[in-house]
Amino acid sequence: MSINSNALSTYKLLKATAEVAEQSLEGRIQHYRAHLKSEDKELRTYTQKAAADLLGVNNRTLKRRHDQGDFDHLSIQKGANGHYAYTLSNIFAMAEILGIKADHRDPSDKLQVLVINSLKGGCGKTTSLVNLAAALATTNIKRYRIGIIDLDPQGSSSSFFPSNEHDPITVGDLMRDCIELDEGETWSQLVADSFQKTHIPNIRILPSGMDDFYFEHETATELKESSSYEETRHYHKLKERVIQPVEDEFDIILIDTAPSLNFMFYNALMASTAMLIPVHPEAVDFDANNKYLKRLGEIYHTVAALGHDGWDFMQFLVTNYVKGNHSQRDIVKDVRTAFGRQVMSYPINHSSAITASSSSFNTIFDQKTSDSLASRESLLRAQENIKDVVDELEMLIRSNWSSTQSNLD
Ligand SMILES: Nc1ncnc2c1ncn2[C@@H]1O[C@H](COP(=O)(O)OP(=O)(O)OP(=O)(O)O)[C@@H](O)[C@H]1O
Ligand SMILES: [Mg+2]
Repeated sequence: MSINSNALSTYKLLKATAEVAEQSLEGRIQHYRAHLKSEDKELRTYTQKAAADLLGVNNRTLKRRHDQGDFDHLSIQKGANGHYAYTLSNIFAMAEILGIKADHRDPSDKLQVLVINSLKGGCGKTTSLVNLAAALATTNIKRYRIGIIDLDPQGSSSSFFPSNEHDPITVGDLMRDCIELDEGETWSQLVADSFQKTHIPNIRILPSGMDDFYFEHETATELKESSSYEETRHYHKLKERVIQPVEDEFDIILIDTAPSLNFMFYNALMASTAMLIPVHPEAVDFDANNKYLKRLGEIYHTVAALGHDGWDFMQFLVTNYVKGNHSQRDIVKDVRTAFGRQVMSYPINHSSAITASSSSFNTIFDQKTSDSLASRESLLRAQENIKDVVDELEMLIRSNWSSTQSNLD
C-alpha cells in the first residue's frame, strides 16, 4: 500500500509535533515538581485550633492530652513558629486515641459508585470531582474511604493526585487484562495495590494513562468477533475486574470520565450506583446538555438490559457559575424549572481560588490559606461553597446506607 506524499508530510509533521508536546509535558511536570519542592506532593498542615475544630474537641482538651503525653508516639512536627503543625494523618491518629470512631459504611450498606459525566468538554467534571472528593475526605472527621477512578485517558484527575510510582498500573491496564500476576499474587491484591495512596490519607486513586485509549479499539474488535455478550462481558469489565475485587476497601468511589459516550463510559454506567451531571450555565452548553440527555437515555437502555440495578440518585450540578451574571442566572432558572429537585441546591461558583489552585493541580483543600495564589477571602469563600455542595451530596449518599437510616429514626 503506498502512502500519498502529502499524507506522509502530514504524518512527519504530527510526529515532530508529538515530540515537542512530550518535551513540553515533561517540562511542565518538572516545573510542577519544583513548585512542590519535593518529589512527593504534601497536604497542608493544620494549627492546633484547626485540628481541634476538625476533631470536634476544644483546644484545652488537646493541650491536656499533649501534656499527658498521649500523642507523643505520633511524633507530631512543629512549624517554624514553634507551634504544632498537624498533618491530616496525625489528626486521624489522634481521633483514634480520643475514641472518635471512623464513620464508615456498614458492610451491609452498598458501596456508592458515583459517576460524573457530560458530553460537554470543559464543563467542570474534573474540577468538581477532585474538589468534592477532597472536601468529603478532609473537612470532617468521618475518615470516609474514598477511591477515585480516572476513566479519562487525558489523566486530568490523576494529575491532582499524582502517583509516586514512575509507571503506575492504570484502570485501562486492569480492564484490558494486560498485567501478569506475580507468583502467589491474587487478582484482588493486584487491583488493591493499583489504587495508589495519595497525599490525602483517605483517598486512593486508580490513575489513567494514554494507553487506556486502546480499550476502545480492542472492545470494538471483540464486539466484531464474538457472538454472545457472555463471551466478552465488555460493559462489565470495570465493575467485575476493577471494583468488585476491592469493594470492601471503600465507602465511596468517584469516577471521572472523558467527554465522550465511549465504551469506557458504558463500563462506568454499568458500575455506577449514582450519577452527577455537571451543567455549565451558558446557552450553548445547556442546549448541548439537553441533546446529551436524550442520548444518555438510549445508552442506559442498553446497560439496563444487560443487568444494571438502577441509580440511587441522579443529580445535575451547576458548575463554574458566575454570580451576578444575568444570562447565567436565567439559564440556571431554566435548569431548575426543567429538572426541579434533581438539581443540586447549590451551584459550584466560578472562583479565582479554584482557577489558581487548579493551575498547579491542587484542590482548594490542599493548601493553607497563606500558600494560595488567590486571596484568603476567595479561598475561604470557595471552600465554604464546596462544603455546602458536599453536605448535600453526603446526605444523598448516606440516605442509601441503612446504618445511617437507623441513626435518623
Ligand atoms: N468553579 C470553577 N471556578 C473556576 N474555574 C473553573 C471552575 N470549574 C471549572 N473551571 C475551569 O474550567 C476549565 C475546565 O474544567 P475541567 O477540566 O474541570 O472540565 P472537564 O469537564 O473535566 O473537561 P474535559 O471534558 O476536558 O474533561 C478548567 O480550566 C478549570 O480550571
Ligand atoms: Mg476532565
